[in-house]
Amino acid sequence: MLKVLRKIRRAITHDEPGYYDMYLNKGEQFFARLYLHHIRSVIKQEATGPLKLLDAGCQTGRLAIPLAKDGHPVTGVDTSAVALHKAQNHARDAGVTPRWVRANLGSWLPKQPAGSFDAVLCNEVLYLRENWRELLGGLIRLLKAGGLCFISHRSPSFARAEKSGEGKVDGSYYNWQEREDLRRIYEESGIRVLNIVPIWQLSHTVNPEKVTEAQRDLLFQEEISAAAANGDGRYLLVCGKKR
Ligand SMILES: C[S@@+](CC[C@H](N)C(=O)[O-])C[C@H]1O[C@@H](n2cnc3c(N)ncnc32)[C@H](O)[C@@H]1O
Repeated sequence: MLKVLRKIRRAITHDEPGYYDMYLNKGEQFFARLYLHHIRSVIKQEATGPLKLLDAGCQTGRLAIPLAKDGHPVTGVDTSAVALHKAQNHARDAGVTPRWVRANLGSWLPKQPAGSFDAVLCNEVLYLRENWRELLGGLIRLLKAGGLCFISHRSPSFARAEKSGEGKVDGSYYNWQEREDLRRIYEESGIRVLNIVPIWQLSHTVNPEKVTEAQRDLLFQEEISAAAANGDGRYLLVCGKKR
């Protein structure tokens, strides 16, 4: 009964008490800072002006909103009405107006014109989806030639597996890939891999949510230098360019 009432309340208000809002969470803001550092440095190297950008599985906009603030026209897509409602409020507070679309990527991607985006982001989404190869193909199809992609995958070290694979980890479905497999999959899909960056390499030693702002700044610098050494992180961010 309580579950039904919660569902009705969510449908009416698009709100859910206790929803994990990645835009507001200090730890998630830290990871967003890492993602954005790498994404912005590739954009700076590879692009000359604003990019028509898709954030697939945008949740509450922790990446979409800062990139919209950088001047890119952003479309954020997510299945969750609650996430998009919160994203809209955060965007309004930040003074930007991305386009928000409530849709399932599995059905939405094939309906969009091929080559309709200059850049595509999809972070911390594909590793939970059994149809991840199909979604990846759909994302790449939407990129124009020369377009950029920034897509993260879970690494084997997180899944406590030695090689690429998929299956249940602690009861939930995950897939995970090794650097070399990711490189091959993207190259075979027509993407020139520019860089594969580990995100959160020091995860087993420090939780960024639990430290002070000054400590987070230090940790950020450590993470950036560790990423330069090409190690393994909790996620691997593939930065690529469509041929
Ligand atoms: C862990 S969050 C990542 C959010 C965002 N990409 C980021 O890095 O801040 C995953 C988001 O993907 C969305 N999602 C998962 N599968 C999806 C699908 N098939 N279509 C659209 N959104 C999806 C979820 O609703 C959730 O908001």
